[in-house]
Amino acid sequence: MSTAPAGYRMIEVPEYRKDEFLQVDQLAFAFEPDAETAAQVPLTLDWSRTMAVETEAGLLAAVHASFPFTLPVPGAVVACAGLTWVGARPDQRRRGLLSAMIDTHFERALGRGEPVSALFAAEPAIYGRFGYGSAADNLRLVVPRGAALRDVQGSGALTVRFEPLDRSIHVPLVQAVHAAAGNGRPGWIRRDTALLQERHLADPPAWRDGGEPLRVVTVLAGDLPRAYALLRRKEVGGDGASRTKVLVREVAALDAASAHRLWSVLLDLDLTATVETGMLAVDDELMHLLVDPRASVPKVSDNLWVRLLDVPAALSARRYSAPIDVVLDVRDSRLPMNAGRWRLATGAQGPDGAWPAQVTSTDRPADLDVDVRELGASYLGGRSLAALGRAGLVTEHYAGVLQGVATAFGWPLAPVCSWMF
Ligand SMILES: CC(C)(COP(=O)(O)OP(=O)(O)OC[C@H]1O[C@@H](n2cnc3c(N)ncnc32)[C@H](O)[C@@H]1OP(=O)(O)O)[C@@H](O)C(=O)NCCC(=O)NCCS
Repeated sequence: MSTAPAGYRMIEVPEYRKDEFLQVDQLAFAFEPDAETAAQVPLTLDWSRTMAVETEAGLLAAVHASFPFTLPVPGAVVACAGLTWVGARPDQRRRGLLSAMIDTHFERALGRGEPVSALFAAEPAIYGRFGYGSAADNLRLVVPRGAALRDVQGSGALTVRFEPLDRSIHVPLVQAVHAAAGNGRPGWIRRDTALLQERHLADPPAWRDGGEPLRVVTVLAGDLPRAYALLRRKEVGGDGASRTKVLVREVAALDAASAHRLWSVLLDLDLTATVETGMLAVDDELMHLLVDPRASVPKVSDNLWVRLLDVPAALSARRYSAPIDVVLDVRDSRLPMNAGRWRLATGAQGPDGAWPAQVTSTDRPADLDVDVRELGASYLGGRSLAALGRAGLVTEHYAGVLQGVATAFGWPLAPVCSWMF
């Protein structure tokens, strides 16, 4: 049972204390929405999953919440507690409040049968100590206008709409295409509630930073939407010259032809000079379609962080890229039930070409020593255990074991989540 430090108590936050809850994060993250923004951006909190550390005097000192996500993992999906809204008041920090909240978060997620937790880290140095591993990267590209693309058959036959945001049309359209576009992509968390879908298309004036209101580009085959981009254009002056940037919030496409058609439009908008993409997978179609990828400026940054809360349940929930039978000696100082030797043995290859696995406690000697943090990092198939081994973070007991295990844990498509929660 997790506890709060002396002088504090852990509480569920009732909805009527919403303003107190919000104030903690406004102080922690240095923001305060104006009334117009607050009215236009729906609050997506699930009050049964919204927690705070309260002082004896009744002040909310630190808060967190979580979303009940379904996380796509290699070859499968798994119930996942998406940790969010984590903040401590600046005058209450470094007293162990986050540590206590993490213990509570783990305990409650496990109690709900969620074997995995995931998050976006405000600062990368925070969450490793709690066993979260950096499991995915995202790529943001600045692409010059007019960048040429390789041909894709069928692209020219698709039609394009360029429209102002119309929530009644675009909220369901974006949701349908986004959900389907993620098939086969680990990490591609869907926005499964109406509130998350509405919030993703929120566009209060305060968020425009001098740019135009949000626009939606839709690629259609007949009447059927096949791809979309959410974007705004913004003029940036400098040295007497003004240039207009296309700032893309998100793209999703159902196939290669629609991705090609979409980028053809985005890269050739009149009056613009550059296109800045949103968070793309590091192996996104665009990287392969650009004739001259070197002309674009890439920025790679950490995307999802993943924590295995129930190691055997989490490892047996995903599929593997090759057959293995291996004993992992897992270190987990925060959740000791995960520590010890686990045998991971794959079964018969499935119709998708991947292998399911059973994970059981064992007395057999270990093949690999691994911390739960590195297991989380490799869980979505986007970080090689062999590369983590070369960094000294995973140890093999027999030469060559790591090669086979890293191959099995890898996955053909790089993981990414296209939106921050
Ligand atoms: C990040 C934050 C929630 C930490 O809360 P806190 O109550 O001060 O954290 P704790 O006292 O439980 O710290 C636990 C450990 O993490 C370390 N830590 C906390 N925040 C850290 C940070 N930003 N960078 C590096 N280490 C950090 C502490 O030093 C402590 O280390 P120790 O165990 O070796 O002593 C708080 O600083 C905050 O609200 N920051 C601004 C908002 C934010 O970044 N939220 C996270 C959103 S993902």
